[in-house]
Amino acid sequence: MASIEKDTAETEGVVDCSQGLLAPTLSTFFDGNPVATFVINADHIITHWNRACEYLFGVLASEMIGTRNHWMPFYTEQRPVLADLIVSNSLESMLETYYQDKFKRYSLIQDAVEAEDFFPQLGNNGLWLHFTAAPLRNLHGQVVGAIETLQDVSERRIAEEALRRAQVDLERVVECRTCQLADANLKLAEDIRIRKKTDADTQRRNTQLTALNAKLSMAQQQLLQSEKLASIGHLAAGVAHEINNPIGYIFSNFGTLENYLEGMFRMLAAYEAAEPEIISTEVAAKIKSVREQVELAFLKEDIPALMRESKEGIARVRKIVQDLKDFSRVDENQEWQWANLHQGIESTLNIVSNEIKYKADVVKEYGDIPEIECLPSQINQVIMNLVLNAANAIDKARGKITIRSGTMEEKVWIEIEDNGSGISEENLTRIFDPFFTTKAVGKGTGLGLSLSYGIMQKHDGSIEVRSQCGIGATFRIMWPIHHAEKKNTEGGETA
Ligand SMILES: Nc1ncnc2c1ncn2[C@@H]1O[C@H](COP(=O)(O)OP(=O)(O)O)[C@@H](O)[C@H]1O
Ligand SMILES: [Mg+2]
Repeated sequence: MASIEKDTAETEGVVDCSQGLLAPTLSTFFDGNPVATFVINADHIITHWNRACEYLFGVLASEMIGTRNHWMPFYTEQRPVLADLIVSNSLESMLETYYQDKFKRYSLIQDAVEAEDFFPQLGNNGLWLHFTAAPLRNLHGQVVGAIETLQDVSERRIAEEALRRAQVDLERVVECRTCQLADANLKLAEDIRIRKKTDADTQRRNTQLTALNAKLSMAQQQLLQSEKLASIGHLAAGVAHEINNPIGYIFSNFGTLENYLEGMFRMLAAYEAAEPEIISTEVAAKIKSVREQVELAFLKEDIPALMRESKEGIARVRKIVQDLKDFSRVDENQEWQWANLHQGIESTLNIVSNEIKYKADVVKEYGDIPEIECLPSQINQVIMNLVLNAANAIDKARGKITIRSGTMEEKVWIEIEDNGSGISEENLTRIFDPFFTTKAVGKGTGLGLSLSYGIMQKHDGSIEVRSQCGIGATFRIMWPIHHAEKKNTEGGETA
């Protein structure tokens, strides 16, 4: 460092000529300044190269002062540094050329500039330097040299670079995450769409299933009903068969008995007429006492009445047996025919007119229907049952029975509506059961509707009822216009 002091003296000479720019005391201050600093004079010759410069660039002041080599530590080829541009007054024209966008002008000090750049040949792996340069002027304001400071800002730059890279990385991560998020969002939206669709599908399927379930339970009910009817039908057929014969001979014996009785009464009358002719008073008294004992006059009146009642009872039993036979499908003489249903309804109404004419008006709302293939007598029987039930249900002064007809697709329907008592919900499920009746004993057999149900089954048809208590009931029967070929295959069982 001794050389620095020696050279400093030389330089101080130069500076002295510029009216003591750097006094010897300042030289110490300059040298001790921890910021690397050098000074060139107006001829671009280095006058000062402080210790910090020596440390930073590894070049002694003695090697530099008095030379124009201040470019050497920085560049591989000779070129001006900031201090040169100031001294040669070419800042305006050359700054941009040499320092592009790496410099900044100080606003407070005229012609002072700072810049920052990377110098690959400095240090082990190059250094980032922040350098400032300002003119040195004499008392007249003339530029007599320039001072330049150099600071190693590599650490800051590395930190900044790391920060920048971290930021870039962060941005990249954020961008990536944003993309992933957008993807996830899209997937979610798609999931929601699929879920919504699946939900709608499930709901639709549920509705279908509920409808199917309702149909199934309806079918099950019908099956149950027909099963019940079938088994009761077999039972009824057996019972009807067993009762039919004894009832038959009781009925015919009754006819004979009536004849016999009539003969006996005639005989008795003859005896009575002959009574006055009896001479023996004893015999006459005995006959009189016996007559009084047996109440012959009463017997003569009561026996025919008893016979009549018994005959009616037997006739009723025969009717029930006949109904049972019909119900159990044991009538062999049935033929499928094309029939005019309206004619059938009319003749049925004629037969039952006595039962309804005092109770209800019959309103006919017939549709335009063709001839229908059916078992006419059985259809008539159904209509009779329904009309009689309707009349029976009317308990007010005068009711109304409406009979309608029509076709629907390949089927014909007949509806019988009344404004009678209606059927309670509880009874609605039972009215087709055989022997179910709400009528007084002796008034209803409870077979009418089950019989009708069986007949409609035979026609591949249906019988339905709608009713509201206190308002009335509507029965509707419906079956195919054309009977499908399976007729008369059931063996003709006789009773
Ligand atoms: N139109 C109707 N209005 C009200 N109840 C009815 C009607 N038709 C049938 N019913 C009810 O159904 C039951 C069964 O009818 P049915 O099988 O014809 O037997 P019955 O007429 O001998 O009672 C009746 O007792 C009655 O309670
Ligand atoms: Mg009835």
